[in-house]
Amino acid sequence: MSIMSWLIITLAIAAFFSSQISYAYDLNPLQDICVAVNDSNASVFVNGKVCKDPNLANADDFFASGLNVSIGNIVVAKYGYSVTIVGVNDMPGLNTLGISIACADFKPKGLIPLHTHPRATELITILEGTMYAGFLVPAANTFKSRLFSKILNPGDVFVIPQGLIHFQYNVGHKNATVPATFNSQNPGFVMIPSSIFASDPPILENVLAKGFQLDKKVIEELQKKFP
Ligand SMILES: *[C@@H]1O[C@H](CO)[C@@H](O)[C@H](O)[C@H]1NC(C)=O
Ligand SMILES: *[C@@H]1O[C@H](CO)[C@@H](O)[C@H](O)[C@H]1NC(C)=O
Ligand SMILES: *[C@@H]1O[C@H](CO)[C@@H](O)[C@H](O)[C@H]1NC(C)=O
Ligand SMILES: *[C@@H]1O[C@H](CO)[C@@H](O)[C@H](O)[C@H]1NC(C)=O
Repeated sequence: MSIMSWLIITLAIAAFFSSQISYAYDLNPLQDICVAVNDSNASVFVNGKVCKDPNLANADDFFASGLNVSIGNIVVAKYGYSVTIVGVNDMPGLNTLGISIACADFKPKGLIPLHTHPRATELITILEGTMYAGFLVPAANTFKSRLFSKILNPGDVFVIPQGLIHFQYNVGHKNATVPATFNSQNPGFVMIPSSIFASDPPILENVLAKGFQLDKKVIEELQKKFP
């Protein structure tokens, strides 16, 4: 094959894949930087945040710190974990870049229960500890799912595809530290148990009882556990 035809084929393949990828998720930026600014007077709502004048942007807009702490900003005591999230609301320079980061710390038996990120795939790296992590893939033509899970040790990486229900559980005897990156500036977070049993207003009891094939009394018990 001549160099020219090899080049053309390579470019065609690259163009095919890049056009496939560009259909997804956060929009590609049309400018070098678009630092988010909180403009309460903005009358145009864009898919993201309004950009600051680029001449007023500075290095701090692209900087965050605090992922080195052993207890994150958001402490969820009943599940034994804490997390610090660095999304577009914390680091305005992330606006339109389609990426964000978080770091979770787990006590032994700490759990981030079944949850999803509607707008992002999540890539976790184990820095310290031993984690059991998994996600559910809907099974074709059934109401069941397939569990894809792993025991993860320091240096291991696990990817959770966008939107799928997943969990992370510290099965080790020590604290665990797990940074996670997301391919969205604003991945979103849907905690399954509390979303269902602590909605405001509550879902009609019959819907939950019939849906979960449980007695209404059990549903009431569950609702009490998620005030
Ligand atoms: C919004 O508009 C009001 C009145 O025009 C002005 O006083 C205020 O400073 C504006 N706020 C921002 C964030 O631009
Ligand atoms: C984390 O890093 C900051 C600097 O960004 C430093 O001031 C702080 O002492 C560090 N904290 C810990 C617990 O290492
Ligand atoms: C913008 O407003 C949001 C929501 O009120 C807040 O969480 C965020 O810290 C603000 N961001 C900046 C850069 O001021
Ligand atoms: C484990 O994490 C907790 C906070 O969740 C902290 O109080 C404790 O000191 C940590 N233990 C070790 C050995 O780092």
